[in-house]
Amino acid sequence: MSSKNNESTAIFNISELHTQDAESRVIKDAGIVFEDGKIAWVGPSKDVPAADVSVDAEGKAALPGWVDSHTHIIFDGDRSAEFEARMAGESYSAGGINVTTEATRAASDERLSGLVRDRIRQAVDGGTTYLETKTGYGLQVAEEIRHAKLAHQLKEDGELDTVTFLGAHLVPAGVDADEYLADVNGPMLEGVTPYVDWADVFCERGAFNEDQSRSVLQHAKDAGLGLRVHGNQLGEGPGVRLAVEMGATSVDHVNYLSDSDVEALAGSWSDGDRDNGTGQRGTVATCLPACDLSTREQLAPGRRLLDAGAVIALASNCNPGTSYTSSMNFCVGTAVLQMGLSLHEAIRAATLGGAIAVGADDEVGSLEVGKRADLHLLNAPAAIHLAYRPGMPMTHSVWRRGVRAV
Ligand code: NIG
Repeated sequence: MSSKNNESTAIFNISELHTQDAESRVIKDAGIVFEDGKIAWVGPSKDVPAADVSVDAEGKAALPGWVDSHTHIIFDGDRSAEFEARMAGESYSAGGINVTTEATRAASDERLSGLVRDRIRQAVDGGTTYLETKTGYGLQVAEEIRHAKLAHQLKEDGELDTVTFLGAHLVPAGVDADEYLADVNGPMLEGVTPYVDWADVFCERGAFNEDQSRSVLQHAKDAGLGLRVHGNQLGEGPGVRLAVEMGATSVDHVNYLSDSDVEALAGSWSDGDRDNGTGQRGTVATCLPACDLSTREQLAPGRRLLDAGAVIALASNCNPGTSYTSSMNFCVGTAVLQMGLSLHEAIRAATLGGAIAVGADDEVGSLEVGKRADLHLLNAPAAIHLAYRPGMPMTHSVWRRGVRAV
């Protein structure tokens, strides 16, 4: 069942096809055709047109490939001892970022790019077909530029899809905060801008305060980058408010939200005058359930956000400190089991929601003619098995840009 970029592929006998299209259709006994890396046809299995390669899905369920809109996979080093201490009662603090930064700076280009490629492979093996990642473990001008270039090269190679600059992850140990901020907003930003699509800031106690975060976002906006924010992870704070004020495309973590934060996120989708420079209308609230479990923080209030009318995404936040997993199957299962989302809402948040969070919903996130041929065939006759059999190997096969990847 292999396929090449220029071969058309017809997949038939799909038990249920979760389109996530405008009508949110779930087509029973469905088929789908890929041509030139795009979806060319979607409909009933009995009507599937002929193609170069024909695949019998044998009654398995199919979804859009996962869109993982938040990861930090450019790193070296091990922090399992920190995790073990946390499980023994220590609380998470951002300071562990320094440990990863030290190990990552010491890694050669070749080693670092090999590590990142391995992590991408693992993500794709779990059904992820669109992947964001960030810098943020360099925290020096030359290192942040090195990580941005590395990620850009992987994007050019078609392995990564979009890249974020997170020089404002933490003020590195032993460095003056004002001097560091001047670097982030000056030579670091200038050096990474050709290689990245977004800028992000960790707006949280122990990282960057509201004024510092605003200045990072404003400089990045002036440089033409899209904006994202890490906010409200460890307590209520200014992150969500600032993200909405600055027109950020997403604010991620969102564990501790006041009523006015929730209103601001929901309201961002009905503010007709809003211009965040990316063509997006509002700020997506990105929930990171694997991180919440690994840090023993309260789960992000996905149900409350949806009920208020906000747009949410689910992402893995794969990183060595707070969420060392890229399993979107696990995140979706957890969202259903623990966050009060329906299966359909959880799948939507991990596909179309993620796509909106990275400004790519014209291209990916749903199974519609003309979109990228990114498909995830499950090892199950119904997608509810993602939550019904948590932790089981649910990914049967994956197509990315129309090419069989798993
Ligand atoms: O998204 N919150 C900030 N950054 C990462 C954690 C980084 C780390 O601890 O290494 C996160 O959880």
